[in-house]
Amino acid sequence: MKFIDTEDIGGKKLLIRVDYNVPIKNQEIQDDNRIKASIPTLKLALEKNASLIICSHLGKPKGKIVPDLSLKPVAARLSELLEIDVALAPDCIGSETEAMAQALKPGQVLMLENLRFHEGEQKNDSEFSAQLAKLGQAYVNDAFGVSHRAHASVVGITDHFEQCMGGLLLKKEWEYLSRIVDPARPFILISGGAKVSSKLGVLNNLMDKVNSMIIGGAMANTFIKAMGYDVGKSLVEDHLLDEAQVIMQNARDKKVGFYLPVDFIAGDGVDIQDGAEVVPFQNIPSDKMALDIGPASCTLFAEVLTKAGTIVWNGPMGAFENRTFAQGSYNIADLVGDLPAETIVGGGDTDALIHKMNITEKFSFISTGGGSFMEFLEGKVLPGFQALQQKG
Ligand code: 3PG
Repeated sequence: MKFIDTEDIGGKKLLIRVDYNVPIKNQEIQDDNRIKASIPTLKLALEKNASLIICSHLGKPKGKIVPDLSLKPVAARLSELLEIDVALAPDCIGSETEAMAQALKPGQVLMLENLRFHEGEQKNDSEFSAQLAKLGQAYVNDAFGVSHRAHASVVGITDHFEQCMGGLLLKKEWEYLSRIVDPARPFILISGGAKVSSKLGVLNNLMDKVNSMIIGGAMANTFIKAMGYDVGKSLVEDHLLDEAQVIMQNARDKKVGFYLPVDFIAGDGVDIQDGAEVVPFQNIPSDKMALDIGPASCTLFAEVLTKAGTIVWNGPMGAFENRTFAQGSYNIADLVGDLPAETIVGGGDTDALIHKMNITEKFSFISTGGGSFMEFLEGKVLPGFQALQQKG
């Protein structure tokens, strides 16, 4: 795979696919980390006198123009971050947009309107990617977050350019995630979040690779119930109780350490602060929900994690949006951040937690991917990587 830092891009018009799928409320961007993460690539290209035609999706407009999903606020924020004008084209394809791209001079930046306003994007339609490709001379994928989607601007587009490359963000994601293939040991997975169902692929794929797994978040409840304990009103995926037993048996067979919480903070509901109590895993009250891991679990997990060579973490330990149930996630984040191990974190909620705590610099790498990070951990080939690899 080729990357922008070693490619000849001087003075060229680059079509750059980024993932600016950021949360926006009332035209206000709530979290601009994905925009910031693309800046090194854009600055490098500008230093080399390239002109930039930047494209992204936002939300799921399903082939229709949805004004609330315009990239206008994103173009404005990008302009602030780059400290240069960023014009927004009225569409991502078509004669007006082509004329704007044509008129672009070295060092100038044009942002295209939401790719998903056209059905062709998600259908990986070849005519749509051909139209997009008319806008530039070389293609850059810097959109790790959407590289698990075989969409026109990620995959089909590479058929229409001779010169295709990854951006600096894609390179960084690729390099860090590739370390999981031959990790410093012990290699430990921390898996949290609400549902076992969304983590099955990761648990099964990494079972052959890790030395230990630590399970937190509401997904732990399904394992505790599968072991025969009552979990009160806690969130449980009853249809996965057998599957949970198979996973625990696999861990025993493969001698993978499998650590579940030994105590919980139980409460009356995710949004309720009063009435929370620490309970052992065997005694979750029948009228309460387990909503965070307890202090003894933090101590147990800390003992396991302290020896780690590599840690991959996806999913919080509890309902951290409510302060009453945030301490377990905070403790694990502080602990992992302070360890000398290689620490790789990914997934929207874990990412949000670490940014909220303002400790991003304590981790080796925080992936910008949600679904793409998960699919990588599941051992799947990401179509965006594959398309670039096929170009040499
Ligand atoms: C994300 O936010 O995970 C990516 O931008 C992909 O978005 P999608 O799930 O709508 O394809």
